[in-house]
Amino acid sequence: MLPLLLLLAWLLSSTQTHVATVVGDTHNITKGATITKADCPSKCGNLTVPYPFGIGINSGCGLNRDFELNCTTAFGAPQLLYGNIRFFDISDDRCRISNVVARKCYDKTGAPTQENSASSDITETPLSYSPLNKFTVIGCDDFALVDGGGSRNFTSGCITLCSREEDVIGGSCSGIGCCQTSLPKGLQYYETRLSSLSNHTNISDFGQCSYAFFGEENRFEFRGAPDLSDPNFMQRVKDTVPIVLDWAIWNSTCDRAAAAADYACKANSVCVDSTTGLGGYRCRCDSGYEGNPYLDPGCIDIDECAMGLDDCVKKGCLNKPGGYDCFCPKGDSGDGRKNGKGCIGNSSSNRSIKVVLGADEEESVGLMNQNDVAVAADLYSVRIESGGDLYTAPISSGDLTGQYSLNSDQSPNIFPHMKNNPR
Ligand SMILES: *[C@@H]1O[C@H](CO)[C@@H](O)[C@H](O)[C@H]1NC(C)=O
Ligand SMILES: *[C@@H]1O[C@H](CO)[C@@H](O)[C@H](O)[C@H]1NC(C)=O
Ligand SMILES: *[C@@H]1O[C@H](CO)[C@@H](O)[C@H](O)[C@H]1NC(C)=O
Ligand SMILES: *[C@@H]1O[C@H](CO)[C@@H](O)[C@H](O)[C@H]1NC(C)=O
Ligand SMILES: *[C@@H]1O[C@H](CO)[C@@H](O)[C@H](O)[C@H]1NC(C)=O
Ligand SMILES: *[C@@H]1O[C@H](CO)[C@@H](O)[C@H](O)[C@H]1NC(C)=O
Ligand SMILES: *[C@@H]1O[C@H](CO)[C@@H](O)[C@H](O)[C@H]1NC(C)=O
Ligand SMILES: *[C@@H]1O[C@H](CO)[C@@H](O)[C@H](O)[C@H]1NC(C)=O
Ligand SMILES: *[C@@H]1O[C@H](CO)[C@@H](O)[C@H](O)[C@H]1NC(C)=O
Repeated sequence: MLPLLLLLAWLLSSTQTHVATVVGDTHNITKGATITKADCPSKCGNLTVPYPFGIGINSGCGLNRDFELNCTTAFGAPQLLYGNIRFFDISDDRCRISNVVARKCYDKTGAPTQENSASSDITETPLSYSPLNKFTVIGCDDFALVDGGGSRNFTSGCITLCSREEDVIGGSCSGIGCCQTSLPKGLQYYETRLSSLSNHTNISDFGQCSYAFFGEENRFEFRGAPDLSDPNFMQRVKDTVPIVLDWAIWNSTCDRAAAAADYACKANSVCVDSTTGLGGYRCRCDSGYEGNPYLDPGCIDIDECAMGLDDCVKKGCLNKPGGYDCFCPKGDSGDGRKNGKGCIGNSSSNRSIKVVLGADEEESVGLMNQNDVAVAADLYSVRIESGGDLYTAPISSGDLTGQYSLNSDQSPNIFPHMKNNPR
C-alpha cells in the first residue's frame, strides 16, 4: 500500500501537543490482557498500537500490510508513521493523524509572497476522513475550493470576507474571518487551494495571509483578528488540530465477512458495518465482555463483582458470563440491587438490635443487619445483643455504618461463625 501524500514537507516536525483522549472516543481494544499478536510491540513511544494495527512494516504484526505502521526514531522521540502521515492516537473506530495546512500571503501591493496548497490521499487504505473534521478557511478576502474523492468525487468551498479588523470576532466560525463547512463522509482524498477576491489590498494592514485546512472541529478555536496576523498560526494548527480518520476492516460487509475464512471478529464479539459508505466492518465486544475482539481468544467476560461495577447491595454479587446476579441473604426478599428493591428483611420479625464494636463496649455503638455481619472481616470482634441474647462475631469497621435491622431468630443460622452466648 502506498498511502502518502501530504504536501508540506515539514509535517514530521510537529510537536507533541496532541492529547489522545477525546469525549466520545473509546479505547476498548486496548483494555484486554492481549492487545497485540504474540511477540509484537504494543507501544511506539507512549502511543498504544492495538491489533489489527501493528508496529513494523512487513512485521506480520498487523492484520495485513494496510494496518502496519512504521515506528521510527529517525526524528528523535519515537513517531508512528503511515507513509509520511504521523499517527497520534488509535481508538476503537478512529485514528488521529498529522495535518496539512494551505497558506497564501500577500504584500501591500497584492502580490503573493507565499503560497502552499494542501492535499492528502488515503485512497487504497482501510481509512477515510471522519465527519468529525471540518474544512476551515481563515482570512478576510478569501475563498478556498476543495476537490475531494472517495465514495464519490465532489468540489466544495468556503468564503470569508471582512473589511475591518474589529469585525473579526473569535469564538465561532461564521464567515467573518473564519468559514467552516463539512465535507461528505467516505472521503479519502482532497486537495485545496486558496484564492482572494482583491488580493488582500483592502485588508493589508491587518491580514496578510489566509489559510485553509481540514481537521477535527472540536480541536480548533478561532481567536479572531489576532489569528489573521499570527505568524505562528499555521504551526499552531498543525500542532493542535489533527485529522480524524475512521478505520475499518475492509472490504467486506458483516454479512459476507462472517462466512469468510478471514473473518476478523473473534469469540464473544459482534460485527458492526462501517457507516462510511466505503464498505468494511469493525468488531465490538458483546455487552459485559472486554478486550480486543480481533485477537484470540476474543473478548473476555468482565467480572463486575470483583471490579466493583455491580449495583448489588453489599457483597451479594455473583458474576456470570456477560453480566452478574445480585442476591439477598437467606430470609430476605428483594432483588438485591441498590437501584432496585434492595434487600428487605423478613418484616414479620424486623427488630432493631444494638451492635457493640470491640472488646470494650464503649468503643463504638451502631445498628446493623445480618448482611453486614455476613461479610465482616476479622479486624474487630462484634457482639450483637438481640432480644436478650448475645451473639459475637468478627467484623470489619468499614461495614458498621448506618442503621439497620435484624431478624434475631435467623442470626445464628445465617452466620454460622457467630457464637451464641446467652446471658
Ligand atoms: C508521551 O511522550 C512525550 C515525549 O515523547 C511526552 O512529552 C508526553 O508527556 C508523553 N505523554 C504521556 C501521556 O506519557
Ligand atoms: C520508517 O520511517 C523512517 C523515517 O521516515 C524511514 O527512514 C524508514 O525507512 C521507514 N521504515 C520503513 C520500513 O518504511
Ligand atoms: C474521481 O475522479 C478521479 C480522477 O478524476 C477518477 O479517476 C475517479 O474514477 C473518480 N471517482 C468516482 C467515484 O467518480
Ligand atoms: C491579483 O494579483 C494577480 C497577480 O498579481 C493579478 O493578476 C490580479 O489581477 C489581481 N487581482 C485583483 C483582484 O487585484
Ligand atoms: C476593496 O476596495 C475597493 C475600493 O474601496 C472596493 O471597490 C472593493 O469592493 C473592495 N473589495 C472588497 C473585497 O471589499
Ligand atoms: C477492496 O475492493 C477493491 C474494489 O472492489 C479491490 O480493488 C481491493 O483489492 C479490495 N481490497 C481488499 C483488501 O480486498
Ligand atoms: C466500549 O465499551 C463501552 C463499555 O462497555 C461501550 O459502551 C462502548 O460502546 C464500546 N465502544 C466500542 C466502539 O466498542
Ligand atoms: C418471615 O419469617 C417467618 C418466621 O420465620 C416465616 O414464617 C415467614 O414466612 C417469613 N416471611 C417472609 C416474607 O419470608
Ligand atoms: C422491616 O425493615 C425494612 C427494611 O429496613 C423496612 O423497610 C420495613 O418497614 C420494616 N418492617 C417493619 C414491620 O418494621
